[in-house]
Amino acid sequence: MLLKSQEHLSVLKVIIITALLIIFTSSLSVSTDVDDSLAYIWPLPAQFSSGNDTLSVDPALCLSVSGKGSGLKIVEEAFERYKAIIFEHEVEGVNSHSVFNNFRKRRSRGFDIGTLKIVVHSDNEELQLGVDESYTLLVAKNEGLSIIGEATIEANTVYGALRGLETFSQLCSFDYDTKSVLVYKAPWYIQDKPRFAFRGLLIDTSRHYLPVDVIEQIIESMSYAKLNVLHWHIIDEQSFPLEVPTYPNLWKGAYSKWERYTVEDAHEIVSPKGINVMAEVDVPGHAESWEETFNSFASNLNPRTVVHNWLGGGVCPKAVAKGFRCIYSNQGFWYLDHLDVPWDEVYTAEPLEGISDPSNQELVLGGEVCMWGETADTSDIQQTIWPRAAAAAERLWSRREAISTGNITLTALPRLHYFRCLLNRRGVQAAPVLNKMHVNLATGFGYDCRFNKLLHQLFQSHLPFPLSTVSMLPFSITSQQRLKSEKLKSVDDPVLIVSKQSSS
Ligand SMILES: *[C@@H]1O[C@H](CO)[C@@H](O)[C@H](O)[C@H]1NC(C)=O
Ligand SMILES: *[C@@H]1O[C@H](CO)[C@@H](O)[C@H](O)[C@H]1NC(C)=O
Repeated sequence: MLLKSQEHLSVLKVIIITALLIIFTSSLSVSTDVDDSLAYIWPLPAQFSSGNDTLSVDPALCLSVSGKGSGLKIVEEAFERYKAIIFEHEVEGVNSHSVFNNFRKRRSRGFDIGTLKIVVHSDNEELQLGVDESYTLLVAKNEGLSIIGEATIEANTVYGALRGLETFSQLCSFDYDTKSVLVYKAPWYIQDKPRFAFRGLLIDTSRHYLPVDVIEQIIESMSYAKLNVLHWHIIDEQSFPLEVPTYPNLWKGAYSKWERYTVEDAHEIVSPKGINVMAEVDVPGHAESWEETFNSFASNLNPRTVVHNWLGGGVCPKAVAKGFRCIYSNQGFWYLDHLDVPWDEVYTAEPLEGISDPSNQELVLGGEVCMWGETADTSDIQQTIWPRAAAAAERLWSRREAISTGNITLTALPRLHYFRCLLNRRGVQAAPVLNKMHVNLATGFGYDCRFNKLLHQLFQSHLPFPLSTVSMLPFSITSQQRLKSEKLKSVDDPVLIVSKQSSS
């Protein structure tokens, strides 16, 4: 009896669930319309055209590298990384040892794209400011006699090839109906290059320590938005977490003994992935005001000095007018710890604002968004960086005319929503675009791992001097040279950082 009524109940359940599903899916189809006229590539390429074909990508996609740079490992490694991203879902035909998959593969009519061809013209893999990052990407059905179609990336350097791979990965999407990876709106013809050579993100490990793995995740996520410089603000008054072999006592100025970077850690972080890591070891210019330094010493400054604008607007126009190069980081818009700045203000902040002379415009190397560490640690850093750093990334990569005209609520916002979800799919904890106060900020300096203040003080009391004097000590120069000889990448030209006494 009981059994019988239970059966009735489950039949009823099935009917109700089916009815709900029908209602649900019909309402879904109304709510998921995307604007098909937009190209969902972030940042927007310099030039592109698309068509109406849908192409399938072989899960056993092969790489074929040619050109003078074909021997460089960096392309192959990047291809493997991107293959894992593109084929995030299990797709049919991928396990060749599986009988079932083999059967399905034979049954299928083959894929439109079986090979990714990459041509790299130069074998120079030196990663320096202004390295050629241009590339062309063609994704088309093979109209010739060959059975297998191709996608082709052509670049002058391996770094151009990396940018092209990122774009290719953004064109690929998983189709849940056919369980295959498809490229919509093919053929794609993309000719791309960055607008600015310097597209940076600053992280600050002196206010809160960040583990090496987290820094590496940040570097990986930067490559998705085609940012190319990680400015690593390692030390400041609050802590000195870095090992400097010639000054073995210095890193006792860390928050705790387990929140430090060995020289080997630093090596690992600077090894190239197409992102230039600029380790800032000395604490330049913090004690001096910009007006004072610039007005009294401008004529004494090395002409190769790069002025880094950490103030409000108006600094770059002044610096380039005197013939200096400049990096834009207007703190009103590009300080990511300022949570009240919405995405559109980050997006429309323009590095060339107030600079109309073309020869002066060329002195602006680019810009940098700053993730100051007073209020962010491992628990919230990625969702504070993303998605707003991406808004700046498009400003720095894409053509000014293409992203400055029209209504950005219609042309950029849907694409940024899409890119934010792409970051999420790749495991990056990017916050929702329109969620301003998305995170609980860490309060105070340091990290909860230091347990208590006393321990911190005990640890730091091993220092031969109080930390607040660190910025004045001559070792800052020495340590930078020492690190350089350890093959840490650093800028060869002096950088004058223009900021207030305190960074926030
Ligand atoms: C794509 O299809 C639309 C609508 O059918 C058509 O107007 C357009 O010309 C096509 N574009 C290309 C490149 O074939
Ligand atoms: C831009 O488009 C949005 C959405 O349609 C609209 O609400 C807004 O008023 C538009 N802005 C301008 C400046 O036209």
